[in-house]
Amino acid sequence: MLGNFSYCNPTKLYFGDDSLKFLKDELNNYGDNVLLVYGGGSIKKNGIYDEVVAILKAAGKNVAEVAGVMPNPTIHKLNEGVAIAKAHQTDLILAVGGGSVCDYCKALSVSVNYDGDPWQKYYINFEEPDCETLPVGCILTMAGTGSEMNAGSVITFPEKKLKIGHVFADEKIMPRFSILNPKYTLTLPHYQMVAGIYDIFNHICEQYFSDEDDSTTDYIAEGLMRSVIHSSRIANENPQDYEARSNIMWSATWALNTLLKKGKTTDWMVHMLGQAAGAVTDATHGMTLAAVSLPYYRHILPYGTAKFKRFAENVWNVNPDGKTDMQVAEEGLQAMESWMKELGLAMHLSELGAREDMLPDIANATLILNSGYKVLTKDEVMQILKESL
Ligand code: NZQ
Ligand code: ZN
Repeated sequence: MLGNFSYCNPTKLYFGDDSLKFLKDELNNYGDNVLLVYGGGSIKKNGIYDEVVAILKAAGKNVAEVAGVMPNPTIHKLNEGVAIAKAHQTDLILAVGGGSVCDYCKALSVSVNYDGDPWQKYYINFEEPDCETLPVGCILTMAGTGSEMNAGSVITFPEKKLKIGHVFADEKIMPRFSILNPKYTLTLPHYQMVAGIYDIFNHICEQYFSDEDDSTTDYIAEGLMRSVIHSSRIANENPQDYEARSNIMWSATWALNTLLKKGKTTDWMVHMLGQAAGAVTDATHGMTLAAVSLPYYRHILPYGTAKFKRFAENVWNVNPDGKTDMQVAEEGLQAMESWMKELGLAMHLSELGAREDMLPDIANATLILNSGYKVLTKDEVMQILKESL
């Protein structure tokens, strides 16, 4: 561990199949005006909406709603929500949904009391809020993003073909509390379940594939990756397996609640490529990551061979006997590819609606980070996108 760091994560978690009962106690900590925010209607079909509204009513809250937050929430939807939150004099924003709803609520939190343009301030200039922010609570219905315990918020500007994430520095932007009931994830379609699983796995990879020192954080990452692979195989066979789904939900939270970057640098280029593809195609986040991952990792393999070899041995149980480091490293990526295919992930951007003529737009929207084992050139970005198509 070579890095210096501080660690504080103020989100209070309630985990398990009876965790919703703690909402009542949490509501006592906030004023009467609650803004209930949810997505396209899955919570109405599976009954979570009725359960939550009953608790809010019993607590005597005045409830206003923002419904219809879409996957990859847009700046236009944010502006609509800001007006509703202001008119309601909101005391607490309650997110009920997946990462999109949760991210959206954090964007609302920093925008309601800001008079300027939130897109420019938070997603172009990456500034921190200098206005009063609103507290966010979260009831999670989909495992993947880690948004339930981090300060990240990803917003899309469709007309500009940009999808940008801001990880706020202020811990106040993290949800004050998050209720994680694995049972809620059982109604997810298979496509969303596996997209979420790959999102979790890739969050770990993004923080693992960097540096060469001997870091405790990397051992934690390897343990989490092994757990995700193990539980994903069970859930893929039997999506109703509660134990596997609960392990997946718990891994998702730890994969991106800032622990795995402690003492390390990080990579995050798969996310930059995937988010750019998402901005142009509006495809599911985890699937965009899956489609670009192998071409990217094979591209940077020569620059980080030692770590890819370690990944092969410690995560995929590749036997190194009689093989060169490069052969072991490549075998690790082959094992990862087989697992991805087994889950039914998108292995090509063309499966997500991307066409060759869209690649320049995707390349332009890709933020090149000064991180990982190889800082990409624009030409390399284009090459990786072509290989991902
Ligand atoms: O909108 P509804 O009707 O609720 O349907 C949703 C949506 O269509 C559905 N769903 C969610 N829970 C369900 C359910 N359907 C049935 N039963 C349930 N229990 O699933 C679909 C996808 O939901 P969404 O919230 O979009 O998925 P996810 O959690 O993957 O969130 C994706 C967003 O998070 C951002 C992504 O870029 C994307 O915009 N990310 C946020 C991060 C963060 N805050 O740190 C990091 C991630 O890397 C990611 O970028
Ligand atoms: Zn992600």
